[in-house]
Amino acid sequence: MFATSVLYMRLCLFVSNLSTDFLLTSRTMKVVTLCVLAFALADIAAGDLPSPDRSYKILVLIPVAFKSHRNVFLPLVESLADRGHKIVMLVSLPPVFKHPNVTEINFEVPIPHINFFVEGKFLGSLPAVGEKLPKMARDLYQLPSVKMLYEKRKEFDLIIVDHMFNEVGYPFLHEVPFITIATPGMDYRQSAFLGNVLNPSYAPHLLHSFPLPLSLWQRIKNTFMHIYLAIFWRSWAVVPLIQKEISAQFPDLPPLLDIERNQSLTLMNTHFTITTPVPLLPSQVEVGAMHCRPGEPLPQDLESWLTGAGSTGVIYFSLGSVLRGEIPPEYLQFFLEAFQRLPQRVLWKYEGQLQGAYDNVRISSWFPQQDILAHHNVKVFISHGGLLSLQESIFHEKPLLVLPIFGDQPRNGMVVENSNIGRVLVWEELTADRIVDALNDIINNPMYKENVARMSASLRDQPTTPQERAVFWTEYVIRHRGAPQLRCPAAQLSWVEFLMLDVMGLLLLALLLLLFLIRRLLRAVSDVLFSDHSKKKTA
Ligand SMILES: *[C@@H]1O[C@H](CO)[C@@H](O)[C@H](O)[C@H]1NC(C)=O
Ligand SMILES: *[C@@H]1O[C@H](CO)[C@@H](O)[C@H](O)[C@H]1NC(C)=O
Repeated sequence: MFATSVLYMRLCLFVSNLSTDFLLTSRTMKVVTLCVLAFALADIAAGDLPSPDRSYKILVLIPVAFKSHRNVFLPLVESLADRGHKIVMLVSLPPVFKHPNVTEINFEVPIPHINFFVEGKFLGSLPAVGEKLPKMARDLYQLPSVKMLYEKRKEFDLIIVDHMFNEVGYPFLHEVPFITIATPGMDYRQSAFLGNVLNPSYAPHLLHSFPLPLSLWQRIKNTFMHIYLAIFWRSWAVVPLIQKEISAQFPDLPPLLDIERNQSLTLMNTHFTITTPVPLLPSQVEVGAMHCRPGEPLPQDLESWLTGAGSTGVIYFSLGSVLRGEIPPEYLQFFLEAFQRLPQRVLWKYEGQLQGAYDNVRISSWFPQQDILAHHNVKVFISHGGLLSLQESIFHEKPLLVLPIFGDQPRNGMVVENSNIGRVLVWEELTADRIVDALNDIINNPMYKENVARMSASLRDQPTTPQERAVFWTEYVIRHRGAPQLRCPAAQLSWVEFLMLDVMGLLLLALLLLLFLIRRLLRAVSDVLFSDHSKKKTA
């Protein structure tokens, strides 16, 4: 790490000397510097950490795996496997690893299908996922592969679990050290039970992000959502139903939410550059954009297609992995019409059949997204605003047009809007004109590009890579047997104790008692002083 930094500084010095000597333009200078920096970041993925003392056995548990959630785990799993640890992954998606140190146990549990294009979709996704989980809790432990793994769970040095939607996996965690990966970044509910209760006067909840500072009405709404979402998921609509299924199968197990509190650490898929900076505990480690890497060369035909667009550039369009291109036809028409009117070429990731696309549009069910975003000719990224796409777009300095669909995507859209790195359009108000106007604005107004470049520079400016930190803290928890020294004592307190309601209640009582005594005393004194007078009066 140090050696790489020194090398990097020397290269920078060399480059800056070059630039004065040979009058390189500042633009070239910037490109060269960024290339060197990108190289340095890639080079130090986890390579400069001291070798581990032995090979650890680690279980990665994602029984309820959306593709994008699983993808947050991949760079960490790969680094750990490269360091000689043996990884077993339990995941409800087809395998992706060909690494000799990674074993994937994949099982078929249908990912809950979500109907995105319904009214009131803002909260719609959470109940939609939550509804499917109790059945999953009933079925999961009947699968032979899961059962066998469950019997052997204490052989693992550590379990890594997705903190979101995966309560059905918590029986694995009892009496085994475990850490979580917070795939949506800061989740204030998780933060609270780790002992760090965030203040809704400024900390956004999971599904929303207002421009700061919050107005009175926004603070009321934010406070309500902080409380409502936590109660809805944890105490009302979802976890109690999962708990019932789990208790029927594991009668001796402590409550799932008590097991959850035992986590040693959480790796949060966030960085303060992108989201609101908030106070963090030592057990909350930011590893956002862990999967971001410099672009690699594109396949020849794609490269020449992108370069062939000339200086007008290319628009890249992808709505992520959960939504498999199932856009209603009227919206498809808006996009086709808009792309026909624009001079740019368009790369469109779309899984279905598309009639009526013009020559400037190239469609495929898959593109090497990061390599495309890294390409200098790509001018704008049309995205659903998934967190990983947002991080990649910022990392590769591309402004965005966001069309949020569900979950945290409206929040991510607000981040884009608030920081002026792009624009947001709402599906219900979509027209071809609006798409054309927004894209023209983003492509022709240099402000967006400048802002996203500034954000990118801040995101990349870190003393260690996110991957390196993730590996370090994972091994740290194993080395220190669950690392109880990381736990904040606030996590042990009840709400009454945490808010000091008992202390204030007692003080209030003492104050009342004091007032009462003073009153009695005053009355006694006045009785003595004015006793003659009052006697006369009563007589
Ligand atoms: C797998 O782990 C072993 C040690 O357990 C290590 O020697 C080997 O290099 C690892 N394999 C790869 C491809 O990293
Ligand atoms: C928490 O972890 C400790 C140490 O492994 C264990 O003794 C305790 O039973 C765990 N509590 C729960 C609720 O899992």
